[in-house]
Amino acid sequence: MWKYISGIVVAGGVTYGVMRYFAGGICRCTTRLDGLVIIVTGANSGIGKALSFELARRGATLILACRDTKKGLDVKCEILVEIPSAEVYIKHLDLASFSSVYKFSQNISSEFREIYGLVNNAGIFYHPQTITENNFDITLQTNYLGPFVLTHYLLKLLKASDHARIVNVSSNAHRMVNYYDLQAVTTWQSEFRSHFIAYGVSKLGLILFTRELSKQLSNTNVIVNAVDPGNVNTNIFRYLPSLSNPWLYALQWPIRVLVVKSPQQGAQSALHALLTSNRSTGQYYSDCKLSLPSPIASNDKIAKEYYRITLDILADIFGTESDC
Ligand SMILES: NC(=O)c1ccc[n+]([C@@H]2O[C@H](COP(=O)([O-])OP(=O)(O)OC[C@H]3O[C@@H](n4cnc5c(N)ncnc54)[C@H](OP(=O)(O)O)[C@@H]3O)[C@@H](O)[C@H]2O)c1
Repeated sequence: MWKYISGIVVAGGVTYGVMRYFAGGICRCTTRLDGLVIIVTGANSGIGKALSFELARRGATLILACRDTKKGLDVKCEILVEIPSAEVYIKHLDLASFSSVYKFSQNISSEFREIYGLVNNAGIFYHPQTITENNFDITLQTNYLGPFVLTHYLLKLLKASDHARIVNVSSNAHRMVNYYDLQAVTTWQSEFRSHFIAYGVSKLGLILFTRELSKQLSNTNVIVNAVDPGNVNTNIFRYLPSLSNPWLYALQWPIRVLVVKSPQQGAQSALHALLTSNRSTGQYYSDCKLSLPSPIASNDKIAKEYYRITLDILADIFGTESDC
């Protein structure tokens, strides 16, 4: 009898230990955000939704930027049930369309004088290969080019705030990418390598952008950091065959329960980057701690060069260097 009881206790303890380990860090900052305006893209689902709840609890004025405003409205209603005093706005934003990004930014600029936070959270993974209306691979545009353009459009409002923070939600998947893959950004209208590489390039692009932008904003009140949320149980895997198939998902479920984070746990690093008193900029957070990204992602020269390449391929929006 005692043998069974001690066996159950040990197994329970090990299971708890494994779950705690994979749950990652928890943001312990108690900073309030009363009245501060924060935009969260992709706020209707997963990490963005969980983060929006955390920010509303701390008093932030929230702008939920969603491509499906009906879903955004549902989240607003859920937030108001828990926090009736929350101030929440829903705005339409489709990052896969530069005209939508422009309209969104114009709308925000007409209604708000300053912004404290911009969380570039929205993203897709393993999306069927599609070319956007702007002629880019959909993963590249949604995860990297869209946030790049959005951030530039909103910089004036961020600079208008006493302190401001940009948080770019990246991924450990940036480590899968080599320098050759990274260069493919210029040819992706015609060439596509793999879903994993497409995702990895977009996430590496975000870290390089974070690094270079932090240098350009070094004399301003705006800090910019990237975060890795970890492996989180969300809708992001909707297109991945091994997880979108209910039978395969059921097979993996016992392991996933142990090692995959909940959306609330996945939101902790982004929350930490918004709240921490550490004013480091151009950094990469993982599990609420400063962490080292891959060697390519840590290279200032590559970050500068990639920024220039991105401006080149977005010349229709930003103009060419000779226009400056
Ligand atoms: N889950 C993970 O394990 C994991 C790991 C590393 C990094 N991340 C990153 O974490 C971020 C959040 O993902 P998640 O896991 O929370 O997934 P999710 O639940 O699928 O949320 C993604 C959000 O992005 C939105 N979105 C997608 N395409 C968009 C577009 N064109 N314009 C505007 N919004 C768009 C989605 O809107 P709809 O609901 O309308 O589709 C959704 O609100 C992503 O950047 C992802 O790459 C996630």
